[in-house]
Amino acid sequence: MNIEFPKDMIKGTFSIPVQKEQLYQRIKLQRILIRNQEVIQISSFTKQQVIHENIALDQIDMYLNNILDTSFMSLELYTQDYKYGYRRTKKGKILTNKVRQQSAFVVLEHNKKKQYLLEEGMIIPPLIDLGIMTPTGKIVKAKFDKYKQINRFLEMIEDEIQAETYLKIIDFGCGKSYLTFILYYYLTFVKKIQCDIIGLDLKKDVIQHCNKIAREYNYDQLHFIEGDISAFKNEEKVDMIVTLHACDTATDFALFHAIQMKCRYIFSVPCCQHEVNLQLKSNSILPISKYGILKERFSAILTDSIRAAILEYYGYKVQALEFVDWDSTPKNILLRAVYSGHKKEESLHLVKEWMKQLGFQQKLYELCFTKIKDA
Ligand SMILES: C[S@@+](CC[C@H](N)C(=O)[O-])C[C@H]1O[C@@H](n2cnc3c(N)ncnc32)[C@H](O)[C@@H]1O
Repeated sequence: MNIEFPKDMIKGTFSIPVQKEQLYQRIKLQRILIRNQEVIQISSFTKQQVIHENIALDQIDMYLNNILDTSFMSLELYTQDYKYGYRRTKKGKILTNKVRQQSAFVVLEHNKKKQYLLEEGMIIPPLIDLGIMTPTGKIVKAKFDKYKQINRFLEMIEDEIQAETYLKIIDFGCGKSYLTFILYYYLTFVKKIQCDIIGLDLKKDVIQHCNKIAREYNYDQLHFIEGDISAFKNEEKVDMIVTLHACDTATDFALFHAIQMKCRYIFSVPCCQHEVNLQLKSNSILPISKYGILKERFSAILTDSIRAAILEYYGYKVQALEFVDWDSTPKNILLRAVYSGHKKEESLHLVKEWMKQLGFQQKLYELCFTKIKDA
């Protein structure tokens, strides 16, 4: 047989073994990336175990033809948009079909299961090193919430960047950098958008470790820098900043840099908004202040509302989105801000009113209106 299979296949499955008792009962195929090289990972299932091997893309047609010829009656392949079926009849003829899919990234698995842009089973090698994924592409149970958050974070980004061909991005407070690595992988290898990404964090050992992994996988456009967000200096044009749970006022410094650098996109999930909470006088917000937990949540919402309003003032269109459910993390509000150039003067007016009435200071306000001259 000499069938030409789709070059952009993402995954597939051989089923219906020719011999009932043959060694391999099923074979799964998955496009993966190893050291910057795309290959097809073959997982061959015997009755007791699974054996993995990788096949180069230019060898895959030969491999698939051979297996369909000798060992299985049926093969299904998926690309981003189509499902292809190949069925060998008893007379040795191949019947084919091709069905359009909404998107292979969202329809491959069972409908009831939550679908992610990067589905489980898609092997992203650095994530194995970072301890979030097992070598067979399973997500480590303890890391599943993080993985879910990052997938949703990607969805929020993806909605906005359809027309982009290049993005320079900074992840402020990148920590262990699951988001940073996944974002790099997703943009570079899935979306094929060229990007330069920098992760910045205070922690020296974490930064060293992340740089080591990035170099190991030849992720040439991904770099990690040790430093304090508040002291960050940059001369170059930056298109996007992301923050995921950068603590307390670290988020304000990141937003401030984004405004200064005139970034087009800001995706920020704040957390630990202590600054305002510590300043609010009980009397000014009765009866909320009678209950610590309510005061804390009110302060967090107030803080993020101020941040959103300041971004609006600087010409951003802002959304506050619940990006994952509460069970995954209670710090589940993502501020998505896209530069529109349409400045909202009245938003700043409201910020000043709130601060005056409730008697508090807010870091982003302080940074913007004492440091940006043309505010
Ligand atoms: C809760 S962790 C989140 C890490 C990562 N973004 C994630 O979601 O997995 C917060 C990170 O922000 C970093 N961080 C906090 N304040 C910072 C600052 N002023 N400058 C740089 N990094 C900071 C911490 O070191 C920590 O790694």
